[in-house]
Amino acid sequence: MIVLGIEASCDETAAAVVSDAGGRRILANLVHAQLAEHAPYGGVVPEIAARAHLEKLPPLIAAALDTADIRFAELDGVAFTGGPGLIGGLIVGAMTAKAIALVHGTPLIAVNHLEGHALTVRLTAEVAFPYLLLLVSGGHCQLLVVEDVGRYRRLGTTIDDAVGEAFDKAAKLLGLGYPGGPLIERAAAAGDPARFPLPRPMKGRPGCDFSFSGLKTAVRQAVSEIADEAGRLAPRDVADLAAAVEAAIGDCLVDRTAHAIALFRDRHPAGRSLVVAGGVAANAALRARLAGLAAASGLAFIAPPQALCTDNAAMIAWAGLERLRLGLTDDLAFAPRPRWPLDPEAAPAIGAGVKA
Ligand code: KG4
Ligand code: ZN
Repeated sequence: MIVLGIEASCDETAAAVVSDAGGRRILANLVHAQLAEHAPYGGVVPEIAARAHLEKLPPLIAAALDTADIRFAELDGVAFTGGPGLIGGLIVGAMTAKAIALVHGTPLIAVNHLEGHALTVRLTAEVAFPYLLLLVSGGHCQLLVVEDVGRYRRLGTTIDDAVGEAFDKAAKLLGLGYPGGPLIERAAAAGDPARFPLPRPMKGRPGCDFSFSGLKTAVRQAVSEIADEAGRLAPRDVADLAAAVEAAIGDCLVDRTAHAIALFRDRHPAGRSLVVAGGVAANAALRARLAGLAAASGLAFIAPPQALCTDNAAMIAWAGLERLRLGLTDDLAFAPRPRWPLDPEAAPAIGAGVKA
């Protein structure tokens, strides 16, 4: 089967084509990050994002089909992010996918953005259900058991900020720019993680929930103590604080994931893998620490290639293909969902973001 994927739920416009004929393959994977559009405002402006999706998506889809050397008529499905996310962009993606489906008679698949992150690993590796998933992105920080396509059991989530948000806010306080995660990672490589003793919120507590807002407050406090009169930090201070942030976040992720592993082993003795996905999973230092935890727990550690961790449309096309194989399609009446929990039984955590 060959599926076109469309992603427009936040500030990346993306189109991709994947196939499972003769092995799983990404035939095209194009992303336009709207960094320049939002930079003057210091954050994502929903209205600007929606307009940029509208302008960029049609040529991007044409280019993806061109790269894949596929015509609309050859597609077995058109998958799009149906939520969660910013409503304007979701509508642009949904209307575009519906138009293609209507004109070419192609089956339509509405994909939950989080399901896209959750299943990506099966596009590039052999990973059987069930697996334990740490989903770490700019809008989410969750531990889930992936039981099957469409079946997710949440074990824990953040009660305030998402982990990517914590990286982004810390980076802003350090004057590093956006998105903060990769910039913190680069600065941290030259830093001493022990110089600033930052808190490890929730560490040692029972359960699998996360909290990161205290970390941000502690970074702000440390910055105000060491910045010069103009509010500037020396390069060494930036490196040491970045290293401290990365180490503190790593400690929190490892502690909470260790609890989730205990639950997972108890409930799913046949489960074999710990998977990490989402933009923050691109962080090499965090991947190494989680790999160590998995090894110590007798689980295989699997992460998608870094380019498939941050938002892209190959993950949407792949989740669409997995759903299509099971006959799980949607009709033209599908309405985009700004909020769409993967595990409908999980209570929403206080203050948890909607973005993925
Ligand atoms: O999944 P994603 O691309 O977008 C959504 O949130 O939907 O994740 C973006 C987040 C941002 O907060 C970004 O700072 C973080 O992932 N991120 C990283 C790294 N690369 C991206 N965080 C830590 N280290 C990285 N190398
Ligand atoms: Zn995402």
